This record gives sequence, C-alpha cells and structure tokens, in this order.
Amino acid sequence: MFDTITPAPPDAILGLTEAFKNDPNPRKINLGVGVYKDADGTTPVLGTVKEAEKRLLRGEQTKSYLPIEGSPEYGAASQRLIFGDSHEIVNSGRAVTAQAPGGTGALRVAGDFIREITPGATVWVSDPTWPNHPSVFQSAGLKVATYPYFDAATNGVDFEGMLATIRTIPAGDVLLLHGCCHNPTGVDLSPEQWQTVAEIATERGILPLLDFAYQGFAAGLEEDAMGVRAIAAHCPEMFVASSFSKNFGLYNERVGALTVVARTPDAAAAALSHVKRCIRANYSNPPAHGGEIVRTILGDPELRQQWEGEVTAMRERINTMRHLFVETLNEKGVTQDFSFITHQRGMFSFSGLTPAHVKALRERHSVYIVGSGRLSVAGMTEGNMDYLCAAIADVLKG
Ligand code: LMR
Repeated sequence: MFDTITPAPPDAILGLTEAFKNDPNPRKINLGVGVYKDADGTTPVLGTVKEAEKRLLRGEQTKSYLPIEGSPEYGAASQRLIFGDSHEIVNSGRAVTAQAPGGTGALRVAGDFIREITPGATVWVSDPTWPNHPSVFQSAGLKVATYPYFDAATNGVDFEGMLATIRTIPAGDVLLLHGCCHNPTGVDLSPEQWQTVAEIATERGILPLLDFAYQGFAAGLEEDAMGVRAIAAHCPEMFVASSFSKNFGLYNERVGALTVVARTPDAAAAALSHVKRCIRANYSNPPAHGGEIVRTILGDPELRQQWEGEVTAMRERINTMRHLFVETLNEKGVTQDFSFITHQRGMFSFSGLTPAHVKALRERHSVYIVGSGRLSVAGMTEGNMDYLCAAIADVLKG
C-alpha cells in the first residue's frame, strides 16, 4: 500500500526548520518559524514558568486524566485574559472554554464542532493568512474561502476590499479574524475598523472566529484584546482560539484554549457538550502540564505581575529589532524603503521580498524565511543582524 505513495511537500513553516537543521553553514539564520529569541539567540524558558514548574513538581499528587474540556480553573483564567476580569461574558456563564493542545488544537476543535453543527459552512480566511489555516479547516471537512486583507501598495489593510467581500458572506458562515499581530503581515485593524467588521458580522449573521495567538506582542495584554472585545461587544456568538505558545514561551507544551461564546448559558452548555464529543473523538482529553503552568502563573498575583513584565520585555526587544533591521539595511546600502517594518506589529514582518529573493537568501546565504516573504523579527538578534542585512542587500541586487 505504501509503495505507491509520493512524498508530500514539506510544511511551509516547520519544513524550513527541518531544512535549517540540516544546513551545515555556521552562519545560517532561521527566520521562518515564529519563535522568540533573546539577545543570545536562545529561546528562553520564562522565569515565571520555571517557578510555576517548581511549585507543580512539589505539589503534584496525580497524573490521572483531566476532564475532556480540561481544567475549569484554566478555562476561567483563559476567559479573564481574553475579555478582562469583570467582563459580562466572564460573569454570565455564556462562555465555555476547553483546554486545547495549542492554538492549532483549538482551531481544529472549532473546525470539527462547526462541521458538526453546520456541515455546509465555509470558513473565510484573510488573504494572506497563516498557511496552516486552510489545512486545519479543510481537514475538518469544511470549505475555505478568502477575503482581501493586505494592500501591498500601502503596506496596510485593504479595508474596502475586505468589507466588500464580508458583505457577501452568507449567514452561518465563519469569518476567521486574527485577534492581533496579523500573521503573516503584522498589519492589524484599527479600533474603528474592528467596530465596523463587528457590526457587519452581526447584521449578516456571520460567526466570527478569532485566532488569538499573540496577545501581548503588539501593544500590551489589555490593548491587544481590543479587537476581540469589539467583536464580543456586538456579536452574540463567537469563538476565540487562544494560544499560550508565544506569550508564555510554552511552544513545545502545546497549550491553548477554545472559548465558545453563546447567547445564553444554556446554549453555551449545549455547545460545550458537542465540543467535548469532538475532543473525545480526536485526542480524548488535553495534556495537563502546560495548562497547569499557565493556571499557576495567572492565579498568583506576584507571578502574574512578573509574567506581564516578561511579555513586555519580549515585545520591546522585538520592536528594537525592527528598528535595528531597518537601520542596518540602510547601512548596507539598500535604497528600497523598508521603514514600514517599524510600524508592523507582533513577531512577523511581511517584507515584500519575492519568492526569487527568498530562494536566493536560502541558497546563497542560508537565511531561511517563509516563501511569502514573511520574516520572523523575533528571530533577529544584534549578533545575526549584520550578516542578515548584508544577505538581503546582496539578493536585492539580483
Ligand atoms: C508561525 O506562524 O510561525 C507559528 O504560528 C508557528 C507555526 O506553528 O506555524
């Protein structure tokens, strides 16, 4: 049976890490996957995570299964982080949260659930979007379509184009929005634009699904929830897929959450019963360790405060790298204007580099970036900046 199989193409992002590992060039740089690097080029375990793990190791009594939907305290903490401590959604019980293996796990559970309740629904994703979005929803048996998002001429949002398409989306379809730090473009909606999208989605009966993987990486933990909360203020029903890979640095623990907001607590409870069936048929129940770390940090005022400082430090370092990158490109004699990169938000920069540039960077300089021209600014350091910018200057010459 397997003799007839032809190899599948490597993953657009994680495939780069595989190729990078096999590259013998000692100066190689991986700006493919969105993973935070500190000044030394390492991906640190946060101090708060180490402390939480110490406490967990001391206090752990059992390795027995979690409930299908995970720890209730974790779910409550996730909701408070998304909506704010005293939000009506948090207090009313019309939201339910299932712990999930990463943001991707949360998206897939959402996909399975949507397929179960509205099998004909299409999921509308931005053009461009994270390359795994279409795969996740297609694997769940859903159709995927796109709405315009990025305007290459202005390096901003093509808001008119986006609205024109959203106005054609039928009731019951799903609109996937990036909560903040749009991946791959780093270009987010303004508060007024969020408001407009929320109003149209409500009017048309479109179900918003917020992919919220970078909370804290744009302007701050509270500030970055503005878009999600604008949707929540208008739309009676929504999904939020949270990831704690980046803001807790818990990449390999696979820790995320799917929150379903319904009109009433009864409807939310019914939704959870279906979400649980989807989880049970998929991975049965979630892994505990990463979620316990997050719950411990968010539940302890001192650790929570320390963690907020850690998120701020990561965000500020990435922003420093944005400026250093643009300055160093100038120093290397690049005349093309890259200043827009200092205004983009989150881990990524949509550089405008073409597929030919991307190929030349990899083949001539062992610099790995995503085919769309997306660079992970979070992987830049003072130490690799000079080599990186010289490499970009070289490929821009042709
Ligand atoms: C990315 O876009 O690089 C991250 O979200 C990691 C991933 O899983 O692709």
